[in-house]
Amino acid sequence: YDIVAVVPAAGIGARMQAEKPKQYLEIHGKTILEHTLNALLSYPAISRVILAVAKDDPYLPQLPVANHPCIQVVEGGKNRADSVLNGLRAIENLHRVKVLVHDAARPCVTHDELDKLLEITDDNGAILALAATDTVKKANSDGQIVMTEDRNFIWLAQTPQFFKADLLINALEQAQRQGLTVTDEASAMELAGFRPHLVAGKRSNIKVTHPDDLALAAFYLARNTL
Ligand code: C5P
Repeated sequence: YDIVAVVPAAGIGARMQAEKPKQYLEIHGKTILEHTLNALLSYPAISRVILAVAKDDPYLPQLPVANHPCIQVVEGGKNRADSVLNGLRAIENLHRVKVLVHDAARPCVTHDELDKLLEITDDNGAILALAATDTVKKANSDGQIVMTEDRNFIWLAQTPQFFKADLLINALEQAQRQGLTVTDEASAMELAGFRPHLVAGKRSNIKVTHPDDLALAAFYLARNTL
């Protein structure tokens, strides 16, 4: 199999409340997106990165990495799954490709995390995830607890999420046809009857989402050797 990374980077980052989408904020003199792409491009098993950005994104063309020979840019979609689907549709010979779908907003991913994912070879695929340490509550619309999950079985999904490309495109298209908006690729695979493996990731692989996350990402990036 060829290993291709698909990076959805077409979000607007509303929760960051910054003047530009969060993937274009800088940490240690480089944008979050550049840190993310560097982590993927420097991993030898990845042959190509497909990057989904918003239509008429004015920020990407300013980055030197936009011209990297292994990067292909496609237009993002209305939600994350649409952006990923656009990326997958740019791949030829889907049956010979496995994809690592990775959030643009997770710049601190390391190569040993990718190594662990690639060890999973069955059709279910795998995702990086964190075992919950907090107790997880399910709420109603009034903000009251209606249920407490058994923490021993709760995991928080991270990315990359690793699947055979043909199985994933079918699963995402099926979810779309059913009118379901999935927030990660594993959800689509689950709906299609697969049982993706949970691979324990690191706490450092944060999704930069809120303003506080910038300082934390800066700390982890300074510490990472990839
Ligand atoms: O919204 P969330 O933080 O879950 O977004 C995860 C990733 O999906 C981000 O990297 C974001 O840029 C991307 N995304 C996208 N297209 C959208 C919405 C989000 O590529 N329409």
